[in-house]
Amino acid sequence: MGTPSKDWKEVVAPDEAQRFAGYAQYMLGLQRKAGQGGELSRGLHAKANVGAKAELTVLPDVPEVARAGLFASPGTYRCFVRYSNGNGARQHDAKGDVRGLAVKVLGVPGKKVIPGLEGATTQDFLCIRGAATSVKNTHEFIALVKALQTPTLLVPKLMLSLGPARAFGILKSAAKALSVPMLSCATTSYHSVAPLRWGDYAGKLSLHATVQNAPDAKRGPGPTFLHDELAARLKAGPVTYDVKVQLFVDEARTPIEDTTVEWSPDVAPFHAVGRLVLPSQDVEGADGVKLAAYVEKLSFDPWHALEAHRPLGDVMRARNEAYRVSTQARGALPEPEGADWAVP
Ligand code: HEM
Repeated sequence: MGTPSKDWKEVVAPDEAQRFAGYAQYMLGLQRKAGQGGELSRGLHAKANVGAKAELTVLPDVPEVARAGLFASPGTYRCFVRYSNGNGARQHDAKGDVRGLAVKVLGVPGKKVIPGLEGATTQDFLCIRGAATSVKNTHEFIALVKALQTPTLLVPKLMLSLGPARAFGILKSAAKALSVPMLSCATTSYHSVAPLRWGDYAGKLSLHATVQNAPDAKRGPGPTFLHDELAARLKAGPVTYDVKVQLFVDEARTPIEDTTVEWSPDVAPFHAVGRLVLPSQDVEGADGVKLAAYVEKLSFDPWHALEAHRPLGDVMRARNEAYRVSTQARGALPEPEGADWAVP
């Protein structure tokens, strides 16, 4: 087991500001293409499974080392959450895909990191299923997105841009991740995958499902079975995740700039810091539909953050540009100002 260390470092490439601006514009092109001249939706994670209300409780017994930022002292915050499929197109839920759970915590005091939004009272955490990505950094991420535009040429295109070893490494690991069946959002654990500041430390946040699939569980019928399943669960009772953090130990075992490396719990154990509870609610009733429509228009962005949770690493720095471009293009609503679930 490693000892949490404050000696984490970001390595900023000299050309990255220019590259990241280019990546954001490339993603914007895809977003516009998918919109076909009509209303734009998200450039990625276009299909929402559910938009709902939740509560984040910071535990009273967070270990000293993990007491930072939002998790420095106990409390309960209202949140909006959005579950999504990762593709830029709205596909059948059975199609292999990245799965997202984005959390917007409301009523969080303290200066935020985006210039012009310092006074915002929201703290977002964006998580996906799986604890690592197939791509090391945004250069590889964009090469993969580009190659995926012509599926028949995926392999040669990726080989041309990244070389055969990385191309096959990425495709093998992506195929493995996508083949894990997705039966329910409530039984799935989600991870920030990329690191963020945890006060003076750096950490990865994760949301651990507190219920498991029944051994005979099968996916539901229909193209929106993930929505249908979660809607039924929420009608019957709450859905809960344990919120945990792993803290940086050293660059070799818990790298900041390479999201292919899963931080092993043997090296960086999970510290329980909170509980995320979606209270029982009818997401298909009139109020639930209205709330989901509002959540759909919001922008979830890892940079909606306290300085104590500033995103870290290449993938996070690139997102600082890409999300702002995407949300502005689709006319996302401003950050909620209240601490409650009020829908304006
Ligand atoms: C570990 C890496 C990443 C994770 C965990 C992640 C997660 C997510 C999640 C959960 C959403 C949906 C948010 C919502 O429900 O509104 C999202 C949206 C999005 N992501 Fe990422 N993402 C990652 C990397 C990237 C990268 C590298 C880029 C591009 C450079 C990118 C571009 C986008 C865009 C454009 C959106 C839509 C933004 C909007 O219009 O609201 N993501 N991401």
